[in-house]
Amino acid sequence: MVDQLPVYTRSQLALRNGQDKPAIWIAYLGVIYDVTESRLWSNGKHYEHWAGQDLTEELMDAPHSEAVFQRFKAVGRLV
Ligand code: HEM
Repeated sequence: MVDQLPVYTRSQLALRNGQDKPAIWIAYLGVIYDVTESRLWSNGKHYEHWAGQDLTEELMDAPHSEAVFQRFKAVGRLV
């Protein structure tokens, strides 16, 4: 359950940008996903987008839906 996941602040999320720590996380609709294993997010970069942020609004510009999150683990909630 998403409700039971640990909470993280924006500054904590920002450290998982693919540059400062090995983990690569992105937030969408308040849920943080771990995309470290994705080659499409290597070094924290995905087309013109950077990990370590809430990318909810940016998804509207993507050529895909939120279905891309299905294969990734939710690791936390953004507060
Ligand atoms: C210019 C904007 C973007 C482009 C051109 C783009 C392009 C792509 C492409 C081509 C794929 C793989 C094929 C597919 O699943 O359709 C993909 C996967 C993915 N995208 Fe995007 N995307 C964009 C924005 C975003 C944004 C804003 C997010 C996050 C909110 C995002 C999250 C993901 C994720 C999580 C995957 C799955 C990666 C994987 O399975 O390894 N994308 N994207």
